[in-house]
Amino acid sequence: MGASTHQANRDELILHSSLTDPCLNTMTFLNDIASQYPEAISFAPGRPIEKDFKFGDISFYINIYIDHLMKNEHRLESGVITQLFQYGPSEGYIRALIADMLNITDGITCSPEDIVVTSGAQEGMLLILRALFSDSDDVLLVPQPVYVGIIGAARLLDIRIETFDIHEHGVEISEIKEKIQATEAEGGKVKALYINADFCNPIGISLPLNQRKELVKLARNYNLTLLEDNPYGIFGSERSINPTLISLDLHNNHVAYLGSFSKTLFPGVRVGFIVSRRLSLALTKIKSMLTLNTSPIGQAIVGGVLLECQGDLRHHCKTKINFYLNNLDDLLNQLDASFPEGSHLRSQISWNRPKGGFFLVLRLPFPVNLSLLKISAEQHGVLWTPMEIFYSPPRESNEIRLSFSYLTPEELKEGVIRLSDFIKECMAINTPKAFNKQSKGDEYK
Ligand SMILES: Cc1ncc(COP(=O)(O)O)c(C=O)c1O
Repeated sequence: MGASTHQANRDELILHSSLTDPCLNTMTFLNDIASQYPEAISFAPGRPIEKDFKFGDISFYINIYIDHLMKNEHRLESGVITQLFQYGPSEGYIRALIADMLNITDGITCSPEDIVVTSGAQEGMLLILRALFSDSDDVLLVPQPVYVGIIGAARLLDIRIETFDIHEHGVEISEIKEKIQATEAEGGKVKALYINADFCNPIGISLPLNQRKELVKLARNYNLTLLEDNPYGIFGSERSINPTLISLDLHNNHVAYLGSFSKTLFPGVRVGFIVSRRLSLALTKIKSMLTLNTSPIGQAIVGGVLLECQGDLRHHCKTKINFYLNNLDDLLNQLDASFPEGSHLRSQISWNRPKGGFFLVLRLPFPVNLSLLKISAEQHGVLWTPMEIFYSPPRESNEIRLSFSYLTPEELKEGVIRLSDFIKECMAINTPKAFNKQSKGDEYK
């Protein structure tokens, strides 16, 4: 070995294995491609629509919260200044307002002490996993496909993941049971199971009531914690919404509920929360070593909204909820128009029909990946997300996730036209432009 190689090895930084995990790379790729093609119509991001965001809202809601502290809680100005400008308690300031909101909006009964306010649901995932996973044989069960953030959080903490399928009709309880038993048979322990029961990311479906009840029963029987992550549950018509898992867990022991204000308010506020009677003290301790506390400014904005709507977040979000439901309808109608019932194309292409949320799944007669996404952006000006990235490890898939939350109705209509042109080109036998490039391998990854 030459001196220079020696030098290179000595200087090499050995970083944590999660940094080479595909899920961390794909997020960067998706962000890069979106900024590379700013003119493309994007069905890719799970972002809320931006058109109604206003600068003035930030000060408006902060002022409501400040007025409340001074007038209703009789706090001195100096105390309120300290609250807004200083470090604060790790468990957060707005727990009572969140507890009221959960009761009024979602029918979830909990006390403020059960809640920890977090810097988004994403931080909540790290806190819960850190608290629960005590042994290297502990296992986290996740659906496939699944929101990449939970995979990333588990990887950062070296947590072993096992998977089960989620599909159009929900989950198979028997498959989950088998996974739990197989893990136990080889000396492991399933500590937690992560799930979006409502309008899940990425496939948009909601679990039927019987599966919700079965999951809660399973958690009790096998003494595991269900991590119910519910950022999209509010975005449906009231008729289509089932009880949350936490409200079915009558003894409050087996569900830790993750909430987020990213979709109901805006992601920049970076406020979410966890509800867990059993874990709230442990989570507070961990948070005090992670982010110390959630931004008091963000909490003041959320607090102002919750005061103004008197805990009825559904009422506050009414316009947004209707906007997303209309977009969903428009997208379904546009897809029906582009791939008409009875046509040859339609016999090869299908999609699901969620009742709300931000996402649906389109199934194509050919595998779709990040290379093809690049071609779609470059040649057709339309972006989407290949389902393969929602599997761990990534696996070949014919499906794409279409997000209908970030587009105006006009963009959505034009986007479906571009998307169907792209799909038709991929399917046409004599126009293998896309496939030729794709078959050169992962040149874009
Ligand atoms: C299922 C799911 N959970 C959590 C998050 C992140 O939430 P937050 O912005 O509150 O961290 C997202 C973001 O898209 C998501 O889709």
